[in-house]
Amino acid sequence: MSDIITLDDTLQLRAVDESHVTALHQLVLKNKVWLQASLNWPQFVNSEDDTRKNVQGNKMLHERGYAKMYLIFKHTDVVGVISFNLIEPLNKTAYIGYWLDEDHQGQGILSRALQGIIHCYVQRGEIRRFVIKCRVDNARSNRVAVQNGFTLEGCMKQAEFLNGDYHDVNMYARIIDTVSQ
Ligand SMILES: CC(C)(COP(=O)(O)OP(=O)(O)OC[C@H]1O[C@@H](n2cnc3c(N)ncnc32)[C@H](O)[C@@H]1OP(=O)(O)O)[C@@H](O)C(=O)NCCC(=O)NCCS
Repeated sequence: MSDIITLDDTLQLRAVDESHVTALHQLVLKNKVWLQASLNWPQFVNSEDDTRKNVQGNKMLHERGYAKMYLIFKHTDVVGVISFNLIEPLNKTAYIGYWLDEDHQGQGILSRALQGIIHCYVQRGEIRRFVIKCRVDNARSNRVAVQNGFTLEGCMKQAEFLNGDYHDVNMYARIIDTVSQ
């Protein structure tokens, strides 16, 4: 069964699939140096096979409900990724991760993807607590959390190792029990 979340006339979230490997890999390569300033994993992506293995692993986790990984499509182009890196089914809690193509920032694409995935999973009754963890000095990601209705619950000291240092991390959450249509 295809798992697609339609956001508007131009944007869709599509569950990651092996048919997306080449497009996703090209997007990672294009953004690799830039993304490395915010995320730890890009340095480990070299060949298309690295991306294929990542896609296969995430597809399996997606289908089993341990995690979710959606590619953000603008028309027919992949422009980013939004995921639940971890789902706690008993607690109905999901930990959200995301990144965009650098050239597609500043258009509200990630915010629409975030609202769409939240709406969908609240409606499905699977998740009620959504969590974003981001480094204190990642200004754009903190802005995404605040502008999309997340509340700062605390700051975890030196909780994320990135590029040679341990960074403080803000934890935001948004709790929703029902979605208005
Ligand atoms: C974090 C990241 C996804 C944010 O991207 P973004 O484009 O700033 O986020 P959004 O798509 O929500 O867009 C918000 C921006 O679009 C603008 N915008 C334009 N139209 C908009 C609309 N219809 N709705 C909302 N915002 C809109 C907003 O004003 C805002 O711009 P500003 O920050 O200059 O004020 C991106 O910077 C990124 O991929 N960073 C690297 C990876 C990363 O850090 N991931 C998170 C790790 S915790």
